[in-house]
Amino acid sequence: MTLKVGVIGAGSISESHLQSYASSKEAEIYAICDLNEQRAQDKAKKYHASQVYYDYNELLADENIEAVSICTWNNTHAEIAIAALHAGKHVLVEKPLCKTVEEALLVEQAVKQSGKVLQVGFVRRYATNTAIIKNFIDSNELGEIYYAKASCLRRLGNPGGWFADKERSGGGPLIDLGVHIIDVCWYLMGRPKVKSVSGNTYSKLGNRSNVQNLSFYKAADYDPSKNTVEDLANAVIRFENGASLLVDVSFTLHAKEDKVAVNLYGEKGGAELEPELNLITEKHNTILNAVPQTDSATFDFTQAFQNEIDHFIASVKGDKQTLSPVEDGVEIMKILCGIYESSEKGTEISFEEVKI
Ligand SMILES: NC(=O)c1ccc[n+]([C@@H]2O[C@H](COP(=O)([O-])OP(=O)(O)OC[C@H]3O[C@@H](n4cnc5c(N)ncnc54)[C@H](O)[C@@H]3O)[C@@H](O)[C@H]2O)c1
Repeated sequence: MTLKVGVIGAGSISESHLQSYASSKEAEIYAICDLNEQRAQDKAKKYHASQVYYDYNELLADENIEAVSICTWNNTHAEIAIAALHAGKHVLVEKPLCKTVEEALLVEQAVKQSGKVLQVGFVRRYATNTAIIKNFIDSNELGEIYYAKASCLRRLGNPGGWFADKERSGGGPLIDLGVHIIDVCWYLMGRPKVKSVSGNTYSKLGNRSNVQNLSFYKAADYDPSKNTVEDLANAVIRFENGASLLVDVSFTLHAKEDKVAVNLYGEKGGAELEPELNLITEKHNTILNAVPQTDSATFDFTQAFQNEIDHFIASVKGDKQTLSPVEDGVEIMKILCGIYESSEKGTEISFEEVKI
């Protein structure tokens, strides 16, 4: 039996969900929903969905639908996820889980009450290069991971539209890009309990829509007139096991070029996940840099999405457990919101103190 799926939000990222569902023999794209009627209709036509909705409540009332992908603005994730779970649907919700820790806890409660599967769209967990490093870490090849460092720096890349509207996004590069690299480090470090965070955000450069002769990714509804999000964030995250994670992310920065780097350092070895897979170790008093031989040395977006969707379908069918459950979405929201709070207050946020 194929799983009948509804996709809510038919913008940019829905394309990756739809392509992956379309490539799966186990799923049928049954319905599409978007506030933008034309967008919903175009996607329904392209992917042969039999139903088109403009109000997600109507899609959720359709009893034929067993599972939904939520690909809407961040401020609607919690509301739609909770309604979907209460309507008896399994949920794959795009990252970030939502905008606040309070919302995240409500989603967690709804998952428990409904008994349905909720998978958070931490797509990097499903990437082949992440799985390779996870395998080495699980076999204790790197020893205890005590330090990780991750950067995702765009020199010119504020997508505008809802991404630049704090009300709808919850923030800028930290909640949009930081969520991915913080999550993948935390996951590979073994999901240690967070002790404290100290962060800084800056809004020094604006969205730089004045820049000419250099193109960049723009949201579907691009509007350069509004920008209420930070353009740079950095943070140090301390864990109860003594490990630490150092992060910086930007939508724009006077950097020479864009940069993505994810590094993990353990007692027995290190790993570079981005920009290219590398393993570093020591044997017989000699340092070895080992390059895993794989089809793609870096993050393969299409493959990772296919893996994520396949895993979601398998979890719904009871064949697998999701790799990115709601509890992890809650922990990541604590970290992200803690960094924003730390920056606002100009002080470290300790999780014992605030008792989240
Ligand atoms: N996993 C990834 O790598 C990745 C990449 C990009 C975006 N995302 C996430 O995906 C989500 C969507 O981002 P996007 O780039 O596709 O944005 P987008 O603006 O291209 O698309 C969002 C769509 O959602 C629709 N929408 C908003 N509220 C709605 C509602 N209540 N009901 C129905 N439709 C609604 C909008 O009309 C729009 O068409 C965000 O949460 C974003 O963080 C994830």
